[in-house]
Amino acid sequence: MENIQGMKRTHRCAELTANDVGKEVVLMGWVQKRRDLGALVFVTLRDRSGIIQVVFNSELDSKLHEKAILVRSEYVLAVRGTLQLRSPEAINKNMPTGELEVIASELRILSKSETPPFHIEEDSGANEMLRLKYRYLDLRRPDLQRKIMLRHRVAKLARDYYDENGFLEIETPVLTKSTPEGARDYLVPSRVHPGKFYALPQSPQLFKQLLMVSGYDRYMQITKCFRDEDLRADRQPEFTQIDLEMSFVDVEDVIGVNEGFIQKVFKEILQIDIPTPFKRLPYQEAMSRFGSDKPDTRFGLELVDVSEIAGKTGFKVFQDAVSGGGSVRAVNAKGAGKSFSRKEIDALGELVKTYRAKGLAWINVTGEGIKSPIAKFLTAGEQSAVLQRMGAEKGDLLLFVADKNNDVVVDSLGHLRLELGERLGLIDHNRYDILWVTEFPLLERNEEENRWVAKHHPFTSPMDEDIQYLDSDPGRARAKAYDIVINGYEAGGGSIRIHSQELQTKMFNVIGLSTEQAQDRFGFLLEAFKYGTPPHGGLAFGLDRLIMLLAKTDNIKEVIAFPKVQNASDLMSNAPDFVDDKQLQELNIETVEPK
Ligand code: AMO
Ligand code: AMP
Repeated sequence: MENIQGMKRTHRCAELTANDVGKEVVLMGWVQKRRDLGALVFVTLRDRSGIIQVVFNSELDSKLHEKAILVRSEYVLAVRGTLQLRSPEAINKNMPTGELEVIASELRILSKSETPPFHIEEDSGANEMLRLKYRYLDLRRPDLQRKIMLRHRVAKLARDYYDENGFLEIETPVLTKSTPEGARDYLVPSRVHPGKFYALPQSPQLFKQLLMVSGYDRYMQITKCFRDEDLRADRQPEFTQIDLEMSFVDVEDVIGVNEGFIQKVFKEILQIDIPTPFKRLPYQEAMSRFGSDKPDTRFGLELVDVSEIAGKTGFKVFQDAVSGGGSVRAVNAKGAGKSFSRKEIDALGELVKTYRAKGLAWINVTGEGIKSPIAKFLTAGEQSAVLQRMGAEKGDLLLFVADKNNDVVVDSLGHLRLELGERLGLIDHNRYDILWVTEFPLLERNEEENRWVAKHHPFTSPMDEDIQYLDSDPGRARAKAYDIVINGYEAGGGSIRIHSQELQTKMFNVIGLSTEQAQDRFGFLLEAFKYGTPPHGGLAFGLDRLIMLLAKTDNIKEVIAFPKVQNASDLMSNAPDFVDDKQLQELNIETVEPK
C-alpha cells in the first residue's frame, strides 16, 4: 500500500465549487463507484462532505489510467488533479458537485477494501442487524453522517447558548451511588470493597443539586445517563442528556431560558421560527383531551367523555364502568366509517387491549342509520345524544372504551388516537408542535406495594397551593414539574426542587421512606441541605430525542454512533460478554447459571 507522504489534502470532496475551477486539488477518500468507459475511468470519491467525480484519461496518462482500473469500491485513495467544469451534457443535477470533475494527475491507493457486506449508500435497504454489526461501515452512509454531524452542531449550540446565559459546564461522576430516577440501575462491582457496588448514574440529579448548594448557580452538562429498562424506539440503555440546574429560580425562569434554547436550535438547524412563549397544557387537561402526558398536538381527534350519557344506557359494560368510579370515553374517527372494514375495527380492538382496555365498542354512522354492536342497548334518544356529543356526521366512526379505571380508558384511547392519526393521514409530518406539560401530579399510587411514590423524584417540589393536601389527599397534590413535548415525544423534563428540610421530611413520610432509609440513600444530599440551600430547579433534555426530532427519524439508533439493540446488546462489539474467571475472582464475584 502507498502512503500520503508529500501529499496534503487541500479540500473535502464536496467542498469544491465552481469558484475553485482551474485549481490543483488533492482529495482523499473512499471509492463510491468506479466506471470504465474505455479510454476513461470515472471514480466517484467520497468523504464526509459528499462525493465528487474523478476522471482518469488514458490519453493524458496511460499508466495512471491502468492504475485506476485496479480501484474497487471502498478503496481509500489520494488523488491529485485539476478541477474543471464538466461539459454541459455530462452535468449531473442530482449531485451537489455535479457540474464539476477532477482530472487526475496522480493516484495513490492508500488502502484496499474487501467487498463490504452491504452497499454504502443513502437510505440503505440492508438489514438493520447487519448494518449494526458493521456499524463502522454503516456510519459511512451519507444520511447517517448527516445525523451525526447534526448532533455535533446541536451539542455545540447547547454549550454556546448556555455559556452565553451564564451556565458553567461541570462534570459529575459516573461511578456513583444509586440515583432516584426510578429505573433499574446498572451496577459496577468494586474490587477494593468486596460486595459493594457503584451504580452508573441514571442522571446527575443529586450532584447537580449539590452544585447549587456549592454556589455554582447555573450548571449545565452534556452527559451520559444509564438506565436498565426495556428499550423502545425512543429509548436506549445509555443515552445523553443536556442537563441543567439553576439557583434562585421558579418555574417561569427555568422554562424561559430553555425555551430560548429550543428556539435557537430550531432557528439555526432548521431555519424554523418557533414563537415564544410555548403553549402550556396542564397534565390533567393533556390526559383528558389527548389521553397522554406527551400529547401529539399536531392533530385533533380528541377524547370525549360520554360517561353522563353512556352510564345511563342499558349497556351493562358502560353502566358498570361509570357506577364503578370510572368513565366511558370515545374518539370520533371522522370519515373512517366507510374506510374501515369489520376486520380493521377488530384490530383496533386488539390494539386497545394491549393497553389493558377490555374491549372497544363502536358506532358506524352510515347513510342508512347507525351500525353498531351496542345499538341494541341504546334507546333512539340515547343514540342521538351520543352522536350529538361526539359531533358525529354521516361517515364517522365512533370508538368507545369503558372501564372502572379511568387511567385505562384515557391511556388506551390515547394510543388508539395516535394510531388513527397516522392511519387517517391527520399528521402533518413537516410541522413541529412544541408545548410544556405542567402541573404533573406530585405522587402516584404504586398498587403493588400499596403506597404513594414520587412521580418524578422525591426532591420535586409540590405547588405551593397544594402543600395542604400532602396529608389529607396526597393524590391531589400537583408538582412544580414540567415536561417539554415535541410532536408527541417527551424531549425533556424537570422541576423546581424542595429546598426546605421540613417539606423534604414530609415528602419522605408521604412516600413511606423512613428517616433511616432516606439517610441511607440520600444522606449526603440531606446533610448538604443543612448548610444553606438556595431555592433551585432544573431540567434535562434528552439529546438523542431532540436529534431524532430534528432529523425526522423515529428510530433513536439513527442518531447515536454506536447504539444498542432491543436486548441492550451491541451487535458490533458483542457487549455484554463473559469475562475471565480471574477478573471475577478479583472482584469476589461468583456467577450462577440462570434458571
Ligand atoms: P427524566 O428522567 O425525565 O429527568 O429524563 C430527562 C429526559 O431524558 C430523556 N430520556 C431518555 N432518552 C433516551 N433513552 C432513555 N432511556 C431515556 N430516558 C430519559 C427524555 C427525558 O425527558 N434528573 C431529571 C431531570 C431533572 O429533573 O432536572 C431526569 O433525568 O427526553
Ligand atoms: P359484548 O356484549 O361483551 O359482546 O360487547 C359488545 C361490544 O362492546 C363489543 O364490541 C366489545 O368490544 C365492546 N366492549 C366490551 N367491553 C368493553 C369496554 N370495557 N369498553 C368498551 N367497549 C367494550
